[in-house]
Amino acid sequence: MTNLKIIQGGTVVTAEGEMRADVLIEGEKIVAVGTDLASDGAEVIDATGAYVMPGGIDPHTHMELPFMGTVASEDFFSGTSAAAAGGTTMILDFVIPAPQQRLMEAYKQWREWAAKSAADYSFHVAVTWWDQSVHDDMGTLTTEHGVNSFKHFMAYKNAIMCDDEVLVNSFSRARDLGALATVHAENGELVYRLQQEIFDKGITGPEGHPLSRPPEVEGEAANRAIRIAEVLGAPLYLVHTSCIDALEAVTRARLEGQRVFAEVLAQHLVIDDSHYRNPSWEHAAHYVMSPPFRSKEHQDALWRGLQGGMLQTTATDHCCFCTPQKAAGKDDFRKIPNGTGGVEDRMSVLWHHGVRTGRLTPSEFVAVTSTNTAKIFNIHPRKGSLKPGADADIVIWDPEQTRTISKETSHQNVDFNIYEGMEVTGGAATTLSRGTVVWTNGELRTVKGAGKHIERPCFPDYWAGQSKRNTLAEPTPVDRG
Ligand code: URP
Ligand code: ZN
Ligand code: ZN
Repeated sequence: MTNLKIIQGGTVVTAEGEMRADVLIEGEKIVAVGTDLASDGAEVIDATGAYVMPGGIDPHTHMELPFMGTVASEDFFSGTSAAAAGGTTMILDFVIPAPQQRLMEAYKQWREWAAKSAADYSFHVAVTWWDQSVHDDMGTLTTEHGVNSFKHFMAYKNAIMCDDEVLVNSFSRARDLGALATVHAENGELVYRLQQEIFDKGITGPEGHPLSRPPEVEGEAANRAIRIAEVLGAPLYLVHTSCIDALEAVTRARLEGQRVFAEVLAQHLVIDDSHYRNPSWEHAAHYVMSPPFRSKEHQDALWRGLQGGMLQTTATDHCCFCTPQKAAGKDDFRKIPNGTGGVEDRMSVLWHHGVRTGRLTPSEFVAVTSTNTAKIFNIHPRKGSLKPGADADIVIWDPEQTRTISKETSHQNVDFNIYEGMEVTGGAATTLSRGTVVWTNGELRTVKGAGKHIERPCFPDYWAGQSKRNTLAEPTPVDRG
């Protein structure tokens, strides 16, 4: 065997459980997990006192996204490098075609941008409009390019928002293809109206942002998307669930047996809405993202949703805009580019606030930071597992590593950090991306272009067709003679 590495002395943690074991890697793959492994000639990586876990998968990032008149400051290389420093070895980013733009054209553009990634990546493709070409391109993307999820923005009116007609067309098409429909759930019409009303009352600063996007606006859209998906028998995934209202819609649907999944952002679990009232305009603007940060009662509910399995995945929605970019909305909160970062910090924040508080076991931590995403987006066990044959995307996790999060020490390409000053215990000592050490002892060793595009096959027929409506008898016409 050639190009062997063995990770020795650690505790292997997967979504199934924990055990004292070594991990043998050949080239890019895990070849064995166990004790007394034959490893002559292997490079030894010491993991004594550490946990050995699947590298994190962030199911929701926006590297170098053109958005709200500017472009997100983090590119695919800097972003995947920062991710590796935090123990994340794969991102799922978004292709977002402009209305009327062919999906395939946008997809090719994003693939070019992403070629500089240092770690593996894959794409959800947004449906922002509808015609026959969109229908056709969805087919091409699933059959020829390994895309199995399509995103729908129910907010951002006059830009990328989908109305119900687009949702219905696209959810049906996704269902027929065995793909997963995903939504950003906020009622864009209501947001638009509330923004206008709040601005007209003279509220022009970032405090206007959460006022224009209250939880009800998210709850309405979440419920609407869920019910549309239910009627159509289409599986659905809600991104960045931020409030009780949306969580309740998800919970009800899941308890009714509907195939609905939901994601929560690490920042929505630990950061509240008080930042919008900070006396510093810049500080408040740094927290402008959608859905906005919420009050503590919503955070508590989100934690319970994660613990109870109603929320299955954790993400960052990493979409960085530097302070001068945020300043585009200096006189009008509606023009502040929406987005916050955190791809580097997600794992530490979740370990500290999740595992160290007893809310999550280490195994549950693995489930919500990688395995569940890999399963939902159909790349398990290649990703999100440590089974022989899996890609050697591994994080060696030091549960005692303590740091104070700061933009000064961050690898993210943004001039502030929304977690600034937060002390966290637990962090990535070493990260391997397909068998190559890309982060160790505080040193980043990522290589531009080393990341691969990961294709995600569509789901089998049984994936769809679980709605109540589909389980009823076939409708029959009334015989009126
Ligand atoms: O504020 C956000 N979340 N910006 C990125 C685009 C999106 O809505 O996910
Ligand atoms: Zn969104
Ligand atoms: Zn997003």
